[in-house]
Amino acid sequence: MRYIFGLGGIAAFAAALLSAEPWPAAADISTTGTSGIGPFTQSQVDNGRVAYNANCAGCHGYNLQNGTHRTPLIGQPFIVGWGQRSTWEYYRYISYRMPNNAPNSLTPGTYTNIIAYILAANGAQPGSEIMTPETAVRIDTIADGIVREPVLAGNSQPQ
Ligand code: HEC
Repeated sequence: MRYIFGLGGIAAFAAALLSAEPWPAAADISTTGTSGIGPFTQSQVDNGRVAYNANCAGCHGYNLQNGTHRTPLIGQPFIVGWGQRSTWEYYRYISYRMPNNAPNSLTPGTYTNIIAYILAANGAQPGSEIMTPETAVRIDTIADGIVREPVLAGNSQPQ
């Protein structure tokens, strides 16, 4: 990945999207999150909540499950859909396609914060590792899809 930073004038994120970046092999996807500790910090969760409310809640709901788009981002639908996939893949899906009306419009840091928030709402615990776009951890080794209401608490209103 380091080579992308050598491309003068092209933002690292744009280069990352355009480069023939290899899909992580199964062996490269960490499954060491079995303790439930996620590869993200509490600060990312807190910032992600604000960014989610500003950029995603309009379609997916402030509780992540009842917006105009009916596929919930939390609970069993999340684990069934994403549990066996990695945070790396989840980042790509969201950054390439969301917000649905403005794909790729947020910074990498904002996308990782939002993902940290979604993971925490699904039971993953914040830790000391800062999530980046390259973080690849199998999702069902850190999240169980049991909705953590305290993570969502206070989230019924835009912040
Ligand atoms: C303008 C409405 C809109 C906004 C804003 C929006 N989404 Fe979506 N989202 C959709 C629609 C519609 C789909 C189904 C998309 C599809 O099938 O291509 C979707 C699908 C998804 C999915 C896949 C759900 C699943 O498991 O099948 C995820 C994850 C997601 N959105 C996350 C986000 C995040 C995170 C944001 C904010 C950065 C966001 N969305 C903003 C409309 C929106």
